[in-house]
Amino acid sequence: MTRVFSGIKPTGPVQLGNLLGALRHWVADQGEADTVFCVVDLHALTVPQDPAELRSRTLELAQLLVAIGIDPDRSTLFVQSHVPEHAELSWILECTASFGELRRMTQFKDKSDGADFVSAGLFTYPALMAADILLYDTDRVPVGDDQRQHLELSRDLAIRFNHRYGDTFVVPEAAIPKVGARVMDLQQPTRKMSKSEDSPQGTILVLEPLDSVAKKIKRAVTDNDTEVRFDPEAKPGVSNLLSILGACTGEDPATVGETYTRYGDLKAACAEAVVETLRPIQDRFAELAADPEGTAALLAKGAAKAREVAVPTLARARHNLGLLAPH
Ligand code: TRP
Repeated sequence: MTRVFSGIKPTGPVQLGNLLGALRHWVADQGEADTVFCVVDLHALTVPQDPAELRSRTLELAQLLVAIGIDPDRSTLFVQSHVPEHAELSWILECTASFGELRRMTQFKDKSDGADFVSAGLFTYPALMAADILLYDTDRVPVGDDQRQHLELSRDLAIRFNHRYGDTFVVPEAAIPKVGARVMDLQQPTRKMSKSEDSPQGTILVLEPLDSVAKKIKRAVTDNDTEVRFDPEAKPGVSNLLSILGACTGEDPATVGETYTRYGDLKAACAEAVVETLRPIQDRFAELAADPEGTAALLAKGAAKAREVAVPTLARARHNLGLLAPH
């Protein structure tokens, strides 16, 4: 069976773009593949985090993943730092990657440019990401377009290691969803919906009160003409609402566009579809949040299941590298 691995950082509240763009594919993959999903808390450490906040965000993100439909019985769901093999393989892959190739990572360049403190971890981040993926003999990695270069590096490191030390790692493929699934900011529809701090009115959070969700959609920027039509270039605001509505109802945005003639009707339908998508998620999240012990137990099981795969993979890498086996 194909193995799918993906990870998400516990750094900020999950917004609608994450849900419709990426996380929904995770849920859908569950029937099709052997799915492994990880809350990558070690990746959050590349920039300073408030300890109490990191802890609660990690737990909440795990609960949210369950609430959206990641089934801990069908998938392996765990927290990265609960499986120490990630950090160990990361070191090995840091020694497999070259300084030059890490320096060429555009995400490193973007995030380090102008920052007053650049951690060494920010630089080696892609080696840790490669470790996440390679530990599980991953065939396919569903990620956003922004992670394409990191994934390419993971492949290069797997190939290089295998070439130097013999067959050790499965070489993973990227699975990048079509551009159509991109959710844009409701106020500035030419940029991706991202962190709420940058654009609170343009961003919908998965756990935001539902009346506020509806309000934001009804106030979304459209344009001056009045035609409903899916045309992301000429009509980014209207097209974004059509994409969101289509993603919630499982329809093609261009087809949805033919159903409406007035902006007001489109906004009302979009608001309703998003609210009804989020409502069951929020209800389920509330149940899980009331039982943190239950989540902890489920994550312990997930980590144990993850280690059944990670431990032998790391042992293989250690052996092939020539590290002396203990005892
Ligand atoms: N770097 C990814 C991001 O920022 C998160 C991530 C970490 C990841 N490890 C991963 C994604 C492994 C896929 C596979 O979105």
